[in-house]
Amino acid sequence: MPPKPGDILELAIDTLAYGGQGIGRVDGFVVFVRGALPGDLALVEVTRRKSGFAEARLISLVAPSPRRTPFRCDHAPDAGGCEWQTFDYSGQLEFKHRQVVEALAHIGGLDHVTVEPIVGMADPWRYRNKMEYSFGLDGGEPVLGMHRRGSWREVVDVPDCHLAPLEISRARQAVLTACRALELPVYSSAAHIGLLRHLVVRRGLASGELLLNLFVTERFPEERELAERVAAEQPYTSFAVTVNETRADAAVGVGPFMIVGPPYFHEELAGVRLRVPALAFLQTNSEMCGVLYETALRYAAPAAGRSAYDLYCGIGSLSLLLARQAAPVYGLELQDEAIAAAAENARLAGRTDIAFAAGDVRKLLLDPPTGRDTDIARLIEADGKPHQSLRTPATQPFAPPAVIVTDPPRAGMARKAVERMALLGAERIVFVSCNPATLAANAAQLATIGYRLTTVTPVDMFPHTHHIEAVALFVREA
Ligand SMILES: C[S@@+](CC[C@H](N)C(=O)[O-])C[C@H]1O[C@@H](n2cnc3c(N)ncnc32)[C@H](O)[C@@H]1O
Repeated sequence: MPPKPGDILELAIDTLAYGGQGIGRVDGFVVFVRGALPGDLALVEVTRRKSGFAEARLISLVAPSPRRTPFRCDHAPDAGGCEWQTFDYSGQLEFKHRQVVEALAHIGGLDHVTVEPIVGMADPWRYRNKMEYSFGLDGGEPVLGMHRRGSWREVVDVPDCHLAPLEISRARQAVLTACRALELPVYSSAAHIGLLRHLVVRRGLASGELLLNLFVTERFPEERELAERVAAEQPYTSFAVTVNETRADAAVGVGPFMIVGPPYFHEELAGVRLRVPALAFLQTNSEMCGVLYETALRYAAPAAGRSAYDLYCGIGSLSLLLARQAAPVYGLELQDEAIAAAAENARLAGRTDIAFAAGDVRKLLLDPPTGRDTDIARLIEADGKPHQSLRTPATQPFAPPAVIVTDPPRAGMARKAVERMALLGAERIVFVSCNPATLAANAAQLATIGYRLTTVTPVDMFPHTHHIEAVALFVREA
């Protein structure tokens, strides 16, 4: 008899689901429990039942898993975000590896793929190059931290998150102290009044540069004084204000308006120096991002004088790496600002053999015209948004690239984008993915159109969270 809502059960947790929930079984019926780990014997209350599974709330641990370790942060149980902080690190790596294997087998129907050992961190703490804090009130006092697990309203003060470098934690404290001293009002989402909304702190691991970006509802007179007070506590490179006057509870808005320093910081990934604009995407773990990119480059094996594509290129990091050997390189990306930054990064690196274009990859990769008498450089120009384009004679025949690197968002690639990517006829496709489920679905599609998945390397970019990153190599069947 499957359990029903309200039932209290003693449940042995035997594995983890993708998403990080513990899985236990009652007479074979699956029960998901957030916060439970493999090896736990847990007392749980069933909260929901669906046709094939139930969900339950963890009440207490009857016998904790031998793989449990103590919390390192005092606020981790409340703050959310790093739900695996009490799971020993070797256990985390083992489950992440297993989840890649299982996703490929169960979702992609691919059970003969070599999944290399996951690359973990030697020291899996203080790895984040970006922290996003929310302002809130606790007993009328401003606090600055994370939303309480499961609550959009309440903010837990987080003086020192152990995933953040100490400089970032100190910057958070300096901003909070200065905001309290200046009596700046915290924004209330219920009343849509107040000033302070979010603080984003970014730090280049290689450069040590620190960029602080304060998200507020409007520009305010004390901006410079605030910046000076913070600098006296924690030196930084840049201090910006970004205005979010909407109701959206996110660190987005108009800006950045620079109070001190330039609107970017510098980072170096796999030997490539990058200028990163305040609001641009960058992988949040710089150390492991270097490993990720080196793995992608090894799989890509770009060839001198052969072209390469970098799909979903962001600010152009992988394009610059590919351009060490390949020429030309084509980088495609949705956001105009990211493409402008990518073009600037190429210029700063003295590269003239990379063309970037802004737009949806699915639309930019038009079906090659009959006879393939053109190449992507002119397709990019046809889209009307070239930032830097190569002069390719119209008569030059289309030459399939040696390699395509693709790094889509979590949702993976649209079916049409995968089809059009395959039509370019590259010998190899290197797929960088932050979601094994969509990687598996895209891999299954690629298998039907001539690309065989040969090897996958998971890289642990996000210790103490359930998130999984992997690089996959596809080769074109002869
Ligand atoms: C996972 S990030 C990868 C960025 C870059 N490769 C890197 O390593 O920093 C995915 C990127 O895809 C972009 N993007 C999202 N949807 C897109 C689409 N439909 N077409 C092109 N780019 C898209 C996002 O703006 C983001 O920069």
